[in-house]
Order: sequence, then C-alpha cells, then structure tokens
Amino acid sequence: MRLLTERVEQVTAEHLDAMERQGPPVDLVKAYAEPIPALMICELLGVPFADRELFQRHAVTVNSNDATPEEKYAAFAGLQGYLGELVRAKRRDPTDDLLSDLTTGDLTDEELTNVGVLLLGAGVDTTANMLALGTFALLSNPAQLAALRAGPGLADRAVEELLRYLTITHTGVRTALEDVELAGQVIKAGDSVAISGQAANRDPARFADPDVLDLRRPATGHVSFGHGVHQCLGQQLARVELRVAFPALVTRFPGLRLAIPAEDVPLRTNSDIYGVHRLPVGW
Ligand code: HEM
Repeated sequence: MRLLTERVEQVTAEHLDAMERQGPPVDLVKAYAEPIPALMICELLGVPFADRELFQRHAVTVNSNDATPEEKYAAFAGLQGYLGELVRAKRRDPTDDLLSDLTTGDLTDEELTNVGVLLLGAGVDTTANMLALGTFALLSNPAQLAALRAGPGLADRAVEELLRYLTITHTGVRTALEDVELAGQVIKAGDSVAISGQAANRDPARFADPDVLDLRRPATGHVSFGHGVHQCLGQQLARVELRVAFPALVTRFPGLRLAIPAEDVPLRTNSDIYGVHRLPVGW
C-alpha cells in the first residue's frame, strides 16, 4: 500500500487542480471525497472508473437505512452482476490488476465475484465518508485545522484521531460461542451482542477527554477498523489515502471554509456508514 502513496498524491493533486479551476463554492463530497478513493480502488481491482456512477449508487443503497430489504438485495445483485461479468472478462483477457491476479488462483467465478463486490463496495463508500466528515470536523475545530496545516508531519496521528473521534461505521452484531464474562456480565453461549465501536472509541478509561478532537494525541488502539480476524482488510489503503488527502486539501486552500452554516450540512444519518451528503466549501 505504501508504494501507492505517489499515485494517491498525483490523483489528489489532479482533483485539487480541478477544484481550483471550477472555483468556489464546491461540494467537497462530489469533487474530492468520493472520486479519490473510488479511482484508487478501481485502479487496484481493475474496474473501469467510467462505470462509477452505477456501482457507487448500488454500494450506497446496500448500506442505506432508507432502502427496503428488496431494494438492498437488488442493489447487491446489481453489484454481483456487474462484477461477475468483469471477472469472466478478466479470466478471458487478464490485465495488470488484483482481480486478474486472483483469477490465477483456485477461486471459482462466484467466489471471486463476491470478493470483488466486498472490496469495491467497501472501497467506495467508506474512505469517502471519512474524508468528507473529517474535513467537516476540521473546519469545526479551527485550532486543530491550523495545527495540521502548520505541520503536515502530524498527518499520521491526525488520521488515527479523526478515525477514533468520528467512528463512521457500525461493527454490528457478534454471537458468543461460549460463555464469556465481560465487566461483571456473563454473555451466554448463543447470545447475540450489539457492539458499539463508538462507545469503545470514547471510553474515558482508554482515551483522556474522549469527546475532544486532539490531533496530537496518540490515538492508536481505536477500533474504527474493527478488531480481531475480521478487522478491516482495506485499512492500510484507507490510511494511505487519508494521510495524503487531508494535508493536501488544507495546505492547497489556506482559506478553506464552509460555504453554508454548519447546522445546515446534511448529515448521513440514514446509512450504516456515517458522513455528510454534501459539504459545500469555499476558500
Ligand atoms: C476509513 C475507511 C474504512 C473504515 C472506517 C472501515 C471500517 C471497517 C470495519 C469497522 C470493518 C470490520 C467489520 C466487522 O468487524 O464486522 C471493516 C471490514 C472490512 N473492510 Fe473496511 N473500512 C474502511 C475502508 C475500507 C477499504 C478502502 C476497503 C477495501 C479496499 C475495505 C475493505 C474491508 C473488508 C474486505 C472488510 C471485511 C474483512 C473481513 O470480514 O475479514 N475497508 N472495515
């Protein structure tokens, strides 16, 4: 993933150039937060970026709480159909990318299609929200924004702290395989437990002043990428993108500011992945 840094820097700079050409105000979600992670995951997997409209819409519907179960299934099936065709094309005519590489292993078309669905879906609708919501958090905390602008060396820590502070995903539910005692409570084998990464990441016993955004704190140990065997497979890709994209944005536009009142920013409360629907900015 580290080898990708240069390409992420290039893609990021191109999007900042385009924002400059367009002039303010710009919706940061459309102009910056969505296309950069989407382009990177497309290049890695070998998915045509030109099809982004289609698969981004499906990926958003799969995570949406406004969609009915039927609509979610249809969106998932749409992604499967799209990637299934692509997998068959890669088998016939391999190119230099991850999906083509995986066709040389012993995965069936169905397995490979589902790997593709998971990677593409998780790749387009997560980092994008982190970037947009993270920028909103920085704009709402001017001292922190100034610290990041003054010291791009702070980027690694800043990204971990923003991941902790915002905790954009729900980890969901786990089922105990055996009786487990946790903080004086016995969770019986077979019982289901809803996990709150948000609560864990704001546990005052683990992080001092947890409700404060402090980019200088060593926020390692947060659970924003989950924990254990199912910990996020894409976390190093997300880190590379975020470590480049936040400092690049705030240094390119020293006067970056919200173009609408903070309370009017539409929050993405209708999705399993938290964020903002739009983030109009000026500079
Ligand atoms: C800031 C961005 C991201 C966040 C906050 C995030 C968060 C998470 C979380 C919390 C989990 C664990 C889910 C669970 O335990 O049930 C997870 C799993 C996963 N993530 Fe991410 N993710 C991000 C970016 C990505 C990207 C860019 C990719 C793809 C390249 C990706 C691919 C995956 C996959 C494949 C899994 C499932 C791993 C497994 O079940 O073994 N994620 N992610």
